[in-house]
Amino acid sequence: MVLCSPVDMGLGWRLFARPVISRLDSEKSHDLALSTLSRFDRSQYGKSLLSRMFKSPELPIHALGRLFHHPLGLAAGMDKGAKALSAWPALGFSWIEYGGITRYPQDGNPKPRMFRANSERALVNSMGFNNPGASSVRDSLISRRSSGNWPNVPVAANIGRSKKVDNEQAPADYASTLETLWNHADMFVLNVSSPNTPGLRDLQHESFLNDVLKHCISVRKKYDSQKPILLKLSPDSSDEQISQMADSAISSGLDGIVATNTTISRPEPNNTQSRIAFSQNGGVSGRPLHQRSLEVISNLYEYTNGDVAIVGVGGIDSTESAWKSITSGASLIQLYSGLVFNGPGVTSKIVRGLKNRVSENGFSGITEAVGYKHS
Ligand SMILES: Cc1cc2nc3c(=O)[nH]c(=O)nc-3n(C[C@H](O)[C@H](O)[C@H](O)COP(=O)(O)O)c2cc1C
Repeated sequence: MVLCSPVDMGLGWRLFARPVISRLDSEKSHDLALSTLSRFDRSQYGKSLLSRMFKSPELPIHALGRLFHHPLGLAAGMDKGAKALSAWPALGFSWIEYGGITRYPQDGNPKPRMFRANSERALVNSMGFNNPGASSVRDSLISRRSSGNWPNVPVAANIGRSKKVDNEQAPADYASTLETLWNHADMFVLNVSSPNTPGLRDLQHESFLNDVLKHCISVRKKYDSQKPILLKLSPDSSDEQISQMADSAISSGLDGIVATNTTISRPEPNNTQSRIAFSQNGGVSGRPLHQRSLEVISNLYEYTNGDVAIVGVGGIDSTESAWKSITSGASLIQLYSGLVFNGPGVTSKIVRGLKNRVSENGFSGITEAVGYKHS
């Protein structure tokens, strides 16, 4: 069904906004929000309405060989099956990361698997790469493109390891998914850092990691293409491990690093709701992650002398947190939890704030702010 009247649109909006803003602790609400957003995705009128409400200003930055309208994109995990791809730019995002996608379709971990800690502005999730599988996503992206509904912003695909595949077979598993999706994204993020697939983080060890990266780089060579491939890291690795992974990424020919995924560490809960959330298995996202994400961005920027593109993600929910990620060294940034707790206006608000910071500092553009803290 395509929403077409203002009444429908208002209803659709309420269906979308309410769950996203206030009830995303329930996975059902998330699914309802996403399916409503996917109706906007299919309606030109719906998208232009959203765009009028949430359009972000221009704050251009050149990164990973492309021009982005501004640095702020949608983080992986929100649109796992790439169902609302064209609606996200209408909410003000300058780029989108869909997935995580695995070679084989997966149900993910048993429910409930998403919890909120409102007072800490944090989520705990143990989704476990629930997704329709690479072939099914590829097919839906082919029909999306042929119907002319491809978003007009850069699109990244997030790739994880299939649960039923062991780490010895992981390089072939990643390479297969990458190949299946190769023509259906502008760049790719290899996720070896989700805490919700048993053994996945072991792939961050040098011996496994080099093999995964080598297989993925061979796919790119096969296509004789320059599409960027990035590596997404865990905030729970030591600084030394992170430097080693950066070495592996650079020597393998990767183009950038995403810092960071969710953390298995837990903040002190402020109240009963948070105590319940933090006692669940899974990864914490949102505000409690921000400080460690900044440290990882900073360390990576210093270690690589600013030569490798860094995507900053973790607890970005305001101009201040976004500015800190950029001045620590991120040329692109993303958010997930910030959308849940602040609602869809958060993107344009942050970008407007960043634009003000750029002029307050007398910079000619946002590029000058990248890594500024280290100068
Ligand atoms: C429910 C949920 C699902 C996620 N799924 C993925 C995923 O499939 N792949 C991935 O690399 N990161 C995934 N993430 C991590 C986010 O992309 C991001 O790294 C993390 O949430 C920190 O950003 P935030 O503090 O803005 O939420 C997920 C996060 C949440 C909350």
